Amino acid sequence: MQTEYFIVDKNHLDKQTMQRAAELLKRGKLVAFPTETVYGLGANGLDDQAVTKIYQAKGRPSDNPLILHIANQREIIPLVTEIPANAQVLMDKYWPGPLTVVLKRTVVVPDIVSGGLDTVAVRLPANAIARELIALAGMPIAAPSANTSGRPSPTSAQAVLADLDGRIDAIIDGGGCAIGVESTVVDCTTPVPTLLRPGGITLEMLMDTLGEIEIAPALDGSPGCAPRSPGMKYTHYAPAAPMILFEGTYPHIADRILQEIEVALGAGRKVGAIVSKETAQRLPTGVVSAVYGLRQHPMEIAANLYTTLRSFDDSPVDIIYAEGIPEAGLGLAVMNRLRKASGYRIIKE
Ligand code: TXA
Ligand code: MG
Repeated sequence: MQTEYFIVDKNHLDKQTMQRAAELLKRGKLVAFPTETVYGLGANGLDDQAVTKIYQAKGRPSDNPLILHIANQREIIPLVTEIPANAQVLMDKYWPGPLTVVLKRTVVVPDIVSGGLDTVAVRLPANAIARELIALAGMPIAAPSANTSGRPSPTSAQAVLADLDGRIDAIIDGGGCAIGVESTVVDCTTPVPTLLRPGGITLEMLMDTLGEIEIAPALDGSPGCAPRSPGMKYTHYAPAAPMILFEGTYPHIADRILQEIEVALGAGRKVGAIVSKETAQRLPTGVVSAVYGLRQHPMEIAANLYTTLRSFDDSPVDIIYAEGIPEAGLGLAVMNRLRKASGYRIIKE
């Protein structure tokens, strides 16, 4: 199929273009659109057939449930059996924004959306294009990240097209994604809410708002744990070559990466490096580098993360060495993604 390409300025929405995109959703088609976190691949979240197309286009396992996106808080009401006090507090504080709440679902939510679970994940995004599109479509929009399953999430329209051109009906190019990592997923069906996926709303913010929060065991990636969030068990975010993640304090971590790089170069391997600006200055020539930003700026690092992981698509290397960062603030989400991207090949310094 031919993927229709719309360009929309998020500060000045073109009504006619937005209407055309919304019409496609109403007719059961797939439309990729920007959010403040990553691009989503949207379909009518109440239409089994439309949602089935999402799984097909992405090559996504059907037991990995989808998030329903809404345009106004009241639209959650028909989707869930109850809204516990904790969930209400989180929604009031962080919506619209990069937070997804998991609640018990009603029969309105199709089985295929929640992958057979009795819960549903709901999010109210902040991006103006996303909200207008959902509002014009007039229904909850199921939208996973708009990448081929297993690949890094897309933070630009170009990244979406690299994976899905010709496999989806349309894309709205609304520029880059401000946050760059996905929403934080919080299960609010437990007495104390449980963090299932770290993301744009940090653990510190949640602690501050709730006073206490459980952390799902699978979060640190220990692959043995039974995951509460089904998506956590699959390979994710993988770059085009095997990746090894280095964890530790600076500058030891940089020293260690540089050491490993010298060995690999000496063995005649083509080496890629995902590093901070600080470490980039010390890289030997011949290394294909992707620089995510300054170590002290986790927001900048999050915003650039998926672009660095995708940068090796067009510059083939044999091995990628990646520099870890501290887990404070957005650093927790960044490290969660880097660990998965490495397939848990981790060297602790
Ligand atoms: O920022 C985001 O959340 C982006 C944008 C497009 O909104 N969407 C996104 O969707 O990241 P996706 O499908 O790539 O990731 C959704 C995550 C998966 O890990 C999935 O397993 C989990 O949310 N999830 C969805 N429904 C769930 C449920 N009922 N219970 C537990 N986890 C759920
Ligand atoms: Mg995803």
